[in-house]
Amino acid sequence: MVKLSGYKFTELTFIYSSLSEPFTSKNMNKRQFLKTGGVITAATVLNPFYACTTAEKGTSKEDAAKLLTVASNQAGEFVLPALAFAPEALEPNIDKMTMEIHHGKHHAGYVRKLNAAIKGNATFEGKSLNNILATVTDADTGVRNNGGGHYNHSLYWSVMSPSGGGAPAGKLAEAINGQFGGFDKFKEAFSTAAKTRFGSGWAWLITDGKGKLSVTSTPNQDNPLMSKIVTETGTPILGIDVWEHAYYLNYQNKRGDYVANFFNVINWEAVAARLDAAEMVSKA
Ligand SMILES: [Fe+2]
Repeated sequence: MVKLSGYKFTELTFIYSSLSEPFTSKNMNKRQFLKTGGVITAATVLNPFYACTTAEKGTSKEDAAKLLTVASNQAGEFVLPALAFAPEALEPNIDKMTMEIHHGKHHAGYVRKLNAAIKGNATFEGKSLNNILATVTDADTGVRNNGGGHYNHSLYWSVMSPSGGGAPAGKLAEAINGQFGGFDKFKEAFSTAAKTRFGSGWAWLITDGKGKLSVTSTPNQDNPLMSKIVTETGTPILGIDVWEHAYYLNYQNKRGDYVANFFNVINWEAVAARLDAAEMVSKA
């Protein structure tokens, strides 16, 4: 496992490939992999958000925007992203069966239903998921629920890692300390939002892209990108799924224990990259 620190957007493929069994030294090293012709396709599958690679150079702002975007594939349909780690890799914090069902059944279902909901719909078909979420209204129930479901779960997988946990560093740590008065206070605010979300939903750490961080929560599969639906908007940089399907097999009714253990697997480097990307995109 490579050390993850101080990377650039253009290096994110290294990060995601480093977490993925098929691209470790068993078959080829990362440099060899990046020399292959399937870089972009494979990276896009590995990274639920568009991966930026050395073979896909653009401006830094473009790379940042891609990092934050869930895009459809060349056929115009959304696809279920592969997990960047084995389903059992997050144990004991999140068990294998939960991961398999959550990813392979629940998330796959959102993707399938989203594609069905936007097919032939001139408002949404062919758009990035971020664009769809920014324009969806409460009249578009299928797109709202399944578009949110696809985005939210894609982000969720990307901000967890078997080597996660600990505390954020660098600029992200400074931002959290400045906004919340310390990591422990942020942790308390985020955990409270997750534990007190009534029924099913999500808790988020969001940024306005201009230095402000907030903890918020949304019901069902809504998220802070749905500016025509939710009241508190922003770019999610961390999210926790508090639907019972995310934890019930292992934790039953003890949502608080699941939330506490989620902190053991948070990929703070990925969260920091999303913060950097959001700030870069928001610059004029
Ligand atoms: Fe879920």
